[in-house]
Amino acid sequence: MVEPGGNMQGKIRVPGDKSISHRSIMLGSLANGITHVKGFLEAEDALATLQAFRDMGVTIKGPDNGELTIQGVGLHGLKAPEKPLYLGNSGTSMRLLSGLLAGQSFDSTLTGDESLSKRPMKRVTQPLAEMGAKIATTEQGTAPLHIKGGQSLHGIDYLMPMASAQVKSCVLLAGLYAEGETSVTEPAPTRDHTERMLTGFGYSVTREGNKVTINSGGSLDACDIDVPSDISSAAFFLVGASIAENSEVLLKHVGINPTRTGIIDILKLMGADIEISNQTTVGGEPVADIRVRSSQLKGINIPSDLVPLAIDEFPVLFVAAACAEGQTVLTDAEELRVKECDRIQVMADGLQILGIDARPTKDGMIIQGGKIGGGEVISHGDHRIAMAFAIAGLCADAPITIQDCANVNTSFPPFVQLAASLGLNIESKEVS
Ligand code: S3P
Repeated sequence: MVEPGGNMQGKIRVPGDKSISHRSIMLGSLANGITHVKGFLEAEDALATLQAFRDMGVTIKGPDNGELTIQGVGLHGLKAPEKPLYLGNSGTSMRLLSGLLAGQSFDSTLTGDESLSKRPMKRVTQPLAEMGAKIATTEQGTAPLHIKGGQSLHGIDYLMPMASAQVKSCVLLAGLYAEGETSVTEPAPTRDHTERMLTGFGYSVTREGNKVTINSGGSLDACDIDVPSDISSAAFFLVGASIAENSEVLLKHVGINPTRTGIIDILKLMGADIEISNQTTVGGEPVADIRVRSSQLKGINIPSDLVPLAIDEFPVLFVAAACAEGQTVLTDAEELRVKECDRIQVMADGLQILGIDARPTKDGMIIQGGKIGGGEVISHGDHRIAMAFAIAGLCADAPITIQDCANVNTSFPPFVQLAASLGLNIESKEVS
């Protein structure tokens, strides 16, 4: 429940990047030697990946205050899990693991919660089948995934039909075990954490334009990983401090990988006051402090090339659009319909309940900026929908109640506490 109004003031460090945290467990486990991780995201999704590798015999100490010690077993050292690997709500765990496990000598089964069990998996099983993998899904192409071990994979040159870092990473990870060369050509740039981290572990990955290539036969050398703060979590405060009056927030040590900064570019096009300072690189990933101050946002047509670079940030960007002057139009974002929920429909429904003229379209939304009212909205178990509507409270004129928020724990467990510390009038209640 969020009381209307409030300002956002303060300096915070949001938790570690979810995408990088997943990959640190995967590559650390498959490396030779001991990998130390700092800044690991202690949230359900990344912990699901961690548990999966423990279930495959990897010894991992922690997490303790974001620190982990992983005793790598090498590319061929994983052991058959005794039971299905349960991956909760985490699409990244399931899609990346499907690629890795397709190349193992043992059988495995991947399962997930109700939302993950509805998400499309053909996008990964199809290229993996082309590589020689044997994976059974439901008739709808959804989880559980039953992966047959002991297949000999061969490299492919994959023209990826959608801009998806999860699919790209899945194919590249299978490529570690495939004979010859594996390439993925992406229709538009997507997050490149897998490629960067493989390089950090000493494994050669080459890129030519939109084509990434990997060869099998190498090995991963353990290294230390410093996970930057997640720009997708910082995004809630980038929007919050922009739309609330008299606000100024400094977000420390945020990952600003150019494949993730669409949120900053889009907000700037809308007139946001955002300043980047203290740029450095940690473990091959660019990091900086981001200062954001209140501003009157204006509606824009969101450039299509920024969509994959801000793919997780649209729930909160829709809230920014609802507070902006004029019309915002999003197109080319059909992918939002197959995230943790249908983010186009669910956000449009919620914004309409709050009195905003938000019209869903096949591949996006048209939003007229206006006055946000109060009401009760449902987040459909989607963490980012819940947090986006909480941020809407800063611009609302009556209380907003958000139902079904437990999944905030998948990516950002201290959200309520950090948002409240900055000035959001938020209270959370557990409902049994
Ligand atoms: C992710 C890629 C994105 C993103 C997800 C994390 C990753 O999904 O939405 O939250 O870590 O690779 P797609 O690649 O399917 O767009």
